[in-house]
Amino acid sequence: LNRSSFPAGFIFGTASSSYQYEGAAKEGGKGPSVWDIYTHRYPSKITDRSNGDVAIDQYHRYKEDVEIMKEMGLDAYRFSISWTRILPNGKLRGGVNREGVKCYNNLINELLAKGLKPFVTLFHWDLPQALEDEYGGFLSPQIVIDFRDYTEVCFKEFGDRVKHWITLNEPTGYSRGGYEFGALAPGRCSNWEGLNCTGGNSGTEPYLVTHHQLLAHAAAVKLYKQKYQARQKGSIGITLVAGWMVPYSKASSDRNAALRALDFSFGWLMDPLTNGDYPPSMRSLVGNRLPKFSRDESKIVNGSFDFIGLNYYTSNYAANARLSVSGNASYTTDMRVNVSTERNGIPIGPKAASDWLYVYPRGIHDLLLYIQEKYNSPLIYITENGIDELNNVSLSLEEALLDNHRIAYYHDHLSYLHRAINKNGVKVKGYFAWSLLDNFEWVSGYTLRFGINFVDYKNGLKRHPKLGLLWIELTKYLYCLNSFL
Ligand code: GCO
Repeated sequence: LNRSSFPAGFIFGTASSSYQYEGAAKEGGKGPSVWDIYTHRYPSKITDRSNGDVAIDQYHRYKEDVEIMKEMGLDAYRFSISWTRILPNGKLRGGVNREGVKCYNNLINELLAKGLKPFVTLFHWDLPQALEDEYGGFLSPQIVIDFRDYTEVCFKEFGDRVKHWITLNEPTGYSRGGYEFGALAPGRCSNWEGLNCTGGNSGTEPYLVTHHQLLAHAAAVKLYKQKYQARQKGSIGITLVAGWMVPYSKASSDRNAALRALDFSFGWLMDPLTNGDYPPSMRSLVGNRLPKFSRDESKIVNGSFDFIGLNYYTSNYAANARLSVSGNASYTTDMRVNVSTERNGIPIGPKAASDWLYVYPRGIHDLLLYIQEKYNSPLIYITENGIDELNNVSLSLEEALLDNHRIAYYHDHLSYLHRAINKNGVKVKGYFAWSLLDNFEWVSGYTLRFGINFVDYKNGLKRHPKLGLLWIELTKYLYCLNSFL
């Protein structure tokens, strides 16, 4: 098995996002995003009280980073555009910030010059704070117009060179993290009082926010297809996150719980995208707290993608929950599923440093087959897959570069991916590892390291390949799988 075992044109790359990588939070005319405000207003929400003000400074070091990608033999780079670099107060009428446009032109041109394709995410969670303040961001349908306007600037400015667009990254990460747990910006979660939440209602808001994300996504896709696609010849999709769900037991109630959990995570977006409405299980369990699509909305959302981006990291057991749903309904209670990581004391795993990340390579295969069958074989890119380790400051640099667990993780996931493609014919066109470099890991700040390359936070953010010499093997393996299979 080597690179040519993957279909012709199969793309290998790495993924990143603006707030996690760029830094330069106040440079180049950038306006504040909800992440800038959130990390400064509630520093205690972030494990090490850090923020993305400097992050790993890709804003200034993009040339060096693109060179690393080139050295690794990668085909593509997935990054996101920061909305407030382009439109500092979120709105078109505030005027386009030419300096912001220029910084992405520089990155895109550098990538192309080094033979890498840009895969551009238009929204990876850093919403303009001005829109949050004005109307509550994605809580309001007003976001649809502003998002569409913003994406149009991007299509116009960059679409001559960008041929792969991703509207949104993990809508459910944003809506659950920001409006159910309150761990991610804007940190709303009213029913978890005491956790320093900023208000909200987790029985309604996650659904509303997801609904408006779907409508905003669909409006951008419609615009691209009507005005830009024929001329620019690109394609457009959306990135969803999905963990696989393993039934806790053979009981049919647990098998149904696993399917229900998939509906509530993946189907929540994928059903509307492929048939214009939410999964029946959600309709019946959430009732009229689940927003309704008008006939026109349903038509616009249905089929609004050329490809689906899939972020896969982990899997869980799903058991039928015998929850009494008195008291406050929330997304979690609505689902009626107990999600666990252990069965009879045996975990899915090993566990990574992140407490949500249990390693289950088989899950990527099973998930892809499930999607193929249930959703009629959509075109897929794996837009993220990866594993972390603790930022252990007592290690020497040499020790910190030893990431054998990462080699195993990529090896096993790529093997299962290969099997899904070659034996089962799933239509996966590319694979992006999360991540090229260690970076700002949201609530975990810089305490976790997801990078294939190490960033030395104590010494001027210098980049080092992990696993010393063997790094070459790892990257060859990402590139051609030769040395391990
Ligand atoms: C995403 C992810 C990334 C994370 C990665 C590791 O939404 O795309 O949250 O931004 O850093 O998944 O947790």
